[in-house]
Amino acid sequence: MRKGGIPVPALAAMGASIVFALQAFGQSDVEKRVDELLARMTLEEKLGQMSQSTAMRAPISDEIKREIRQGRWGSFLNAGSPADRAEAQRIAVKESRLGIPLIFGRDVIHGYRTIVPIPLGQAASWNPDLIERAAALAAREASAEGIHWTFAPMLDITRDPRWGRVAETLGEDPYLTSVLGAAMIRGFQGASPGAPGSVAACAKHYAGYGAAEAGRDYNSTFIPEGQLRDVYLPPFHAAVEAGVASFMTAFNALNGVPASGNEFLTRRILRVEWKYDGLVVSDYESVLEMVKHGYAADPADAAAKAVRAGVDMEMVSATYFDELKRLVEQGRVPLPVIDDAVRNVLRLKFRLGLFEAPMRSATETEITAAARDLAREAAAESVVLLKNDGVLPLGGGVRRIAVIGPLADSPVDQMGSWVMDARPEEVETPLASLRKRMGADGVRYAAALRNSRDASRENFGDAVAAARASDVVLLFLGEEQILSGEARSRAFLNLPGAQENLAEEVAKAGKPVVTVILAGRPLTFQSVTEESSAVLYAWHPGTMGGPALAEILFGERSPSGKLPIAFPRTVGQIPIYYAHLNTGRPAPPGELGIPMGNPVDPQGYTSKYLDVELTPEYPFGFGLSYARFEYSNLRVSSPAFARGGSIVVSAEIANAGSREGFEAAQLYIRDRVASVARPVRELKGFQRVHLKPGEKRTVSFTLSERDLAFHNQAMQRVAEPGDFDVWIAPDSASGVHGEFTFTE
Ligand code: BGC
Repeated sequence: MRKGGIPVPALAAMGASIVFALQAFGQSDVEKRVDELLARMTLEEKLGQMSQSTAMRAPISDEIKREIRQGRWGSFLNAGSPADRAEAQRIAVKESRLGIPLIFGRDVIHGYRTIVPIPLGQAASWNPDLIERAAALAAREASAEGIHWTFAPMLDITRDPRWGRVAETLGEDPYLTSVLGAAMIRGFQGASPGAPGSVAACAKHYAGYGAAEAGRDYNSTFIPEGQLRDVYLPPFHAAVEAGVASFMTAFNALNGVPASGNEFLTRRILRVEWKYDGLVVSDYESVLEMVKHGYAADPADAAAKAVRAGVDMEMVSATYFDELKRLVEQGRVPLPVIDDAVRNVLRLKFRLGLFEAPMRSATETEITAAARDLAREAAAESVVLLKNDGVLPLGGGVRRIAVIGPLADSPVDQMGSWVMDARPEEVETPLASLRKRMGADGVRYAAALRNSRDASRENFGDAVAAARASDVVLLFLGEEQILSGEARSRAFLNLPGAQENLAEEVAKAGKPVVTVILAGRPLTFQSVTEESSAVLYAWHPGTMGGPALAEILFGERSPSGKLPIAFPRTVGQIPIYYAHLNTGRPAPPGELGIPMGNPVDPQGYTSKYLDVELTPEYPFGFGLSYARFEYSNLRVSSPAFARGGSIVVSAEIANAGSREGFEAAQLYIRDRVASVARPVRELKGFQRVHLKPGEKRTVSFTLSERDLAFHNQAMQRVAEPGDFDVWIAPDSASGVHGEFTFTE
């Protein structure tokens, strides 16, 4: 039961007495305090609480101080130093009429001072416990500097690596994103958002943002309701279940209706269906942007539409403060709608304990040894081994290495996007780590390119000479930080600049080449793979990327990452994702090629490309290891199960290799026939197992009705009786197979 507020459509449908009865029902202490405070507030103070600003610069201007005294702002984002925040809070609490504390929000996305891999990289770990610990570390560091609220996790599903914000996602899959997103929320919020060392989390961007047409940031999205509910919304629902303190609405229009003025999303689904009672904040000026979308006539119209839709706090643009007073006085926006929004803001402030302890701390964070260890573990677990002809791990015979490429020694680039509180000088690069290990004489370094976009070949000579003089070449290629993240969409996914040429030249030296790619998204790099003996994908690994990679290269740790998103062979295959439908004309594997000289076209009329294979370069879930895992013996506990029951699916995994390692075993199902065609595979579970050489283990998963459910044509979530395929698999394109039947 939602406490303390009623959705607008429900308000309209109910008599006032029911409204009051509902509001009184189950009111906790917090609700009482919220209502008491609300009763004392002027309309202007209410609108102030609904406004968030980024304008607090250091030192705080007299104007901002005056505004804080007047109750003009409920929150500041990405603003000020710890000392400024403490001073602003002192003014709010001691010098404003009602003493309502400010809430300081910040984009603490993948670490604060200590940077862990970009979220997409973290997702490659398939390790919720690690992700939870990394978020808890970020929360501790941020809250020590007076931050109460982070704008993370990003729970947008995307199937488009052109979109620069793919870096911030947890990948293409709703199940994986739900599990890992919930882990991040637990990490940020700890026992409660108000507990020492915790921050409030924010599920963003609600909703559909990752489906931006053509992968261009902020672009429109068109998502049928069934797909919205089955693919894009589950991670947000999981966030509600994990107790996330806030939601952020997205920039995009969803089916023509901007997400920041979308009653269907923020009232009907979030408040009514999911019974959410946290705060909803807009994205940066996304309320005002509804004018440009062509959905609101002017700022007043935008404010009215956003607040009616259930956006409680406006980020940066000022339509609420500037327009809503008049609209309320004119009766165009009912006061209960405003009160409802203010309740949501105040409730979060009470939940955070800000009235008792407005500033838990405001000292500068120090990066600790434990933090560096965790960053190293997270970086190592995010690395995905894509190819290995046996050159890795590097053996004792390797005495001289060539370290080549623009990403070998670039602290900023290795941190990735959203790292405003980190310090480049605290980053350990691969070059630094390799020098520590091999001694300065054991390493010959040639950046060869000034940055990843550099197209000049003038320094290739140094790189080739370094390669010739070494036993093995470690080639660090990829994308700079600035090429992924917000507003950083790309239409080409190749390695930018002259990197492919560099790889080609270096390969000519005839030494084994290990390519390590640091990037914010899946890239296409086939020719480089062909020229390399091994390829590691390290994403933007953060502060401790260097030591983590060195551990893997030298075999102290086996790579265990698995791709959280498919890697296309070419940009023309996008969107390419494993959980697709089958079509009426699925192509047989490997069908390709243009027949020549035939008067009659001998090709099948199947769903494929003439010029590239149908499959991705690397499927979702894929990742190699120094261990060799073999899957066998899939068993189901019974051939059928009925509603209310469950079934256990198990398989054996053996390590037939000579090194130990972790394996993320994946459970997939397919509903063969349904009232709405179902994907050829859907992830329903995963488990990480550790196996020593020669060891064998059984992994078991329980499936119940809930796991089989989807939205039917009437938008009811149902599991339909019928036959199912099931796999336990190392990735989405292979595995051991079985079947079962689900009955009424
Ligand atoms: C982004 C959000 C971010 C906000 C605040 C926006 O541009 O879309 O993800 O939290 O800015 O910095």
